[in-house]
Amino acid sequence: MARIVLGAGASVAVYKACDLASKLAQAGHQVRAVLTPRAAKLVSPQLFEAVTGEPAGVDEFAPQRRGAMDHIELATWAELLLIAPCSAGLLSRLALGLADDLVTTVAMALPAGRPKLVCPAMNPHMLDNPALRRHLATLAGDGWRVLEPGSGHMACGVEGKGRLPEPAEIVRAVAELVRS
Ligand SMILES: Cc1cc2nc3c(=O)[nH]c(=O)nc-3n(C[C@H](O)[C@H](O)[C@H](O)COP(=O)(O)O)c2cc1C
Repeated sequence: MARIVLGAGASVAVYKACDLASKLAQAGHQVRAVLTPRAAKLVSPQLFEAVTGEPAGVDEFAPQRRGAMDHIELATWAELLLIAPCSAGLLSRLALGLADDLVTTVAMALPAGRPKLVCPAMNPHMLDNPALRRHLATLAGDGWRVLEPGSGHMACGVEGKGRLPEPAEIVRAVAELVRS
């Protein structure tokens, strides 16, 4: 069992991240959720706190922040970093090494060698975009394990590839990484 930081971007699939957090906690993992500010407009961090029993974070500059430097505390605490769902915007910022919100700053501060799993979720055209493909290749080269999105009906009304894999599949991928 592992201490997992679950980072979530502003994808429509972020509603599934609550179920994912719950399933990871039920599997015995300790899960702390971190949302980008835009993801937190789609779902409340409080929901993640309710299903994990752990604090969830969005803004380490907020007056009600928990620690002095949440990004360092979280990155040190994490035995595994999971980004699910990863929007196109978040994925690109991770690949570029930007540290402009709590999710990307935790990723930057993660000690070398800790496993990192990213689960992209986006419209098929976004997934096919050459810039996105370049950023995905960069992440793979930087040691991220990339879980391929699934195909099927998308919330935006099109059929294609880009769906967040089901939470059970992500839990299995986490278990493999924890074992390895
Ligand atoms: C309701 C809604 C759903 C969205 N779903 C997705 C999505 O599934 N994938 C994606 O890459 N962007 C999606 N977007 C666009 C992103 O939210 C937007 O690019 C945002 O800037 C990304 O923020 P982030 O980098 O904090 O994740 C969606 C936007 C809205 C309003």
